[in-house]
Amino acid sequence: MATVIIVGSQWGDEGKGKIVDIYTEYADEVVRFQGGNNAGHTLVVGNETTVMHIIPSGILHAGKRCLIGNGVVLDPQVFFQEAEMLKAKGYFQDDAQLVIDPAVNIIMPYHRAIDIAREKKAGCRKIGTTGRGIGPVYEDKVGRRGIRLGDLVHGQVFAAKLREVLPEKNFLLEKFLGEAPLEEASIYDEYMAYGESLRKYLGNTSRILNDGIASGHNVLFEGAQGTLLDIDHGTYPFVTSSSTVAGGACTGTGVGPCRIDAVVGIAKAYVTRVGEGPLPTELQDETGELLRREGHEYGATTGRPRRTGWLDMVALKKGVEINGLTGIALTKLDVLNQMASIRICTAYRCDGQLVDEFPPDVDMLTRCEPVWEEVPGWRCDISGTTCMEDLPRQARFFIDTVEKMSGCPVVLVSVGPRRDQTIQIVNPFGLRD
Ligand code: GDP
Ligand code: IMO
Ligand code: MG
Repeated sequence: MATVIIVGSQWGDEGKGKIVDIYTEYADEVVRFQGGNNAGHTLVVGNETTVMHIIPSGILHAGKRCLIGNGVVLDPQVFFQEAEMLKAKGYFQDDAQLVIDPAVNIIMPYHRAIDIAREKKAGCRKIGTTGRGIGPVYEDKVGRRGIRLGDLVHGQVFAAKLREVLPEKNFLLEKFLGEAPLEEASIYDEYMAYGESLRKYLGNTSRILNDGIASGHNVLFEGAQGTLLDIDHGTYPFVTSSSTVAGGACTGTGVGPCRIDAVVGIAKAYVTRVGEGPLPTELQDETGELLRREGHEYGATTGRPRRTGWLDMVALKKGVEINGLTGIALTKLDVLNQMASIRICTAYRCDGQLVDEFPPDVDMLTRCEPVWEEVPGWRCDISGTTCMEDLPRQARFFIDTVEKMSGCPVVLVSVGPRRDQTIQIVNPFGLRD
């Protein structure tokens, strides 16, 4: 039995979807524990690309149970679109493959409207959110006025909650944000219908997982976003509104921390960021453009071009510490194929001082300049390499450097988007074998 948490170690889009798909082979259950359809997880199987926003990336493996844990926020409209897309492709043929916890908070139309209107009003001070209503729905969850899936399937409870909450939302939308108010009756009808259709997926995910673990199952926890977008530990306020770090897997599913065996942090061989906020190693030049082009760095959810930069070790070391990483899965190494030399940020210089710890406040981070170490590139195509021994010496040196600087072993190297473009060094599910 082993339980493995997958988290993004940087600013999201590290390739979590691909690695979850790979590790699902060893898992009995795969569970999402936070975030919502702000996530865009890309899976490439053969010539077919599938982007998952809300359903766990394990769903492409028939027979593997997928769960949406209590920490997730769910937009029913997006959920059904995704479910239909999967079914049309021949996946998710059995509805029993998916279980959704009743404590999941529902993203309502007013959450999306408020998210978009607030960003518009903020102008140049915007966060650069995905516009999916994530901040507003988590606000309501913490403010104890959220509508949960368990409410939606009980018409009377849902009606009473909606009646109570909507006037406040409309007041905000109309009087402060200058937007049109929303109509109660149409929301009620639409969401009651969603509740009916979602009923068949309802289940106690904490119970399923704990029972599974007790009977020797392997469980994979699929994180979304990344460590530096975490509500507490990220570059606040330029963050998402959930606990993206490993600790979030426990609160977001109801599995205790002592039940966790391994935490694998997915890290790109460079960095990207979508939206606003500091990115100390950002490259706004030809090299940055090359990374964007070679890495196809455009958002899987919003299509926005991703900002790009060299690997930031100060940030990655924070990810290792906060998540208690037992391993790093290093992705997109092939994107560096053409580089004659590769830079790694080992520290920052800030206000004349050398800083080797990720600054706690965003203003200080904005003033940080990277201190570089340069390593040689390999200047050849590694996208067909299937074992460490066949990687060029310079690529192995780069991996060794990442291990040494981070103090964390690299357990997987990814050299392309497809399943077969993966070098597994240590299988985190094998720890107890
Ligand atoms: P996620 O949000 O962490 O799941 O990552 P995304 O799916 O948003 O972005 C990762 C992108 O990189 C996707 O287009 C993947 O297909 C692709 N990808 C994943 N691993 C690799 C890799 O090793 N090499 C290359 N070239 N692409 C990769
Ligand atoms: P995956 O799971 C990259 C970013 C947004 C914005 C900030 C807040 O694919 O790695 P939100 O809509 O969550 O309130 O936006 O967080 N963001 C992501 N960036 N990958 C993601 O998910 C992201 N989800 C949110 O761009 O800067
Ligand atoms: Mg993504």
